[in-house]
Amino acid sequence: MKINDMLAPHNDQIANDQIANDQSRLKQANSDQIQSFDAWIVHMQARMEKVLDANMPSASISPMRLHEAMRYSVLGGGKRVRALLAYGAGEFCGAQLDKIDLPAASVEIIHAFSLVHDDMPCMDDDDLRRGKPSAHKQYGDAMAMLVGDALQSLAFALISQDKLLNNATQKLQMLHILALASGSRGMAGGQAIDLESIGIPLTRAELEHMHIQKTGALIRAAALLGAYSADKPDEDKVKAVDHFAKSIGLAFQVVDDILDAKADTKTLGKTAGKDAYHNKSTYVTILGVSAAQQLVDELHANAMAALSFYGSEADLLRQLANFITQRSF
Ligand code: IPE
Ligand code: IPE
Ligand code: MG
Ligand code: MG
Ligand code: MG
Repeated sequence: MKINDMLAPHNDQIANDQIANDQSRLKQANSDQIQSFDAWIVHMQARMEKVLDANMPSASISPMRLHEAMRYSVLGGGKRVRALLAYGAGEFCGAQLDKIDLPAASVEIIHAFSLVHDDMPCMDDDDLRRGKPSAHKQYGDAMAMLVGDALQSLAFALISQDKLLNNATQKLQMLHILALASGSRGMAGGQAIDLESIGIPLTRAELEHMHIQKTGALIRAAALLGAYSADKPDEDKVKAVDHFAKSIGLAFQVVDDILDAKADTKTLGKTAGKDAYHNKSTYVTILGVSAAQQLVDELHANAMAALSFYGSEADLLRQLANFITQRSF
């Protein structure tokens, strides 16, 4: 079977009327920043859900149970922060919205894969994810492992066959960024450090390194993929996006550490208090909640400073930084 046959309706079909309308709705949202940012988020989350739905293999295609489990793990939940960052950075760099869709989806898919594996009994052993039973609880450990494998390759397939990205160099650059961010010097590497350091307190520098890899790398990749969705992005803007995303990616995991300690399971949609239970080194265990919160504020300020040269064209990114650092789940 050809790959395109396996991937239920593809990007030509995604470009339907609804999504064509998004261009003007995004402009409208951007012209009325503060009041419409919440609406922009809801709208872009819905857009990403549609893109993902259209690009996940159908559960009616063999192997049906694997496809069902992949769809279960990706669809119907999640804040879609990485996609929002890709859209925000893409818009800042002048990318057409529909060119950001698949690169943004690819990062969300890698992220979903990382969550499936992160929850498995051999890792964090969490039965709850996005308010539902974790993938391994629903489909078993072996299937959850395969879901991760298959989602990982799907992410790369989506970029490599994206018909809207007609420049091979642009695609290659995106594939390279995503590969590095997912691998042993990125997400997988950070996860390995996380597991190896259970019960062993990390120094602050080691903790920063782990967080930058396990979470920061994919967030940075999301923003960069958004930026490179523009045909010829301005180099200074790409650098600004990169600096911004580096700070906000680390801030994201510091907030995750704080929420793990402070929020409840129902709000989080995943088991609260797991880090302490598993004896993990986090910013809360190393610094305490209030110093960790102070660090979030510093990282937020660094992210803002990366955009200081820019005016209202960077407001969406600024709002995203606020959203990420002030979130309650
Ligand atoms: C949770 O990420 C795992 C981390 C990398 C901290 P998110 O908080 O973005 O999870 P979803 O996608 O919204 O469920
Ligand atoms: C996960 O970090 C980072 C990933 C790469 C998935 P956590 O283990 O803290 O994420 P949650 O709290 O389970 O979502
Ligand atoms: Mg973990
Ligand atoms: Mg976890
Ligand atoms: Mg956590």
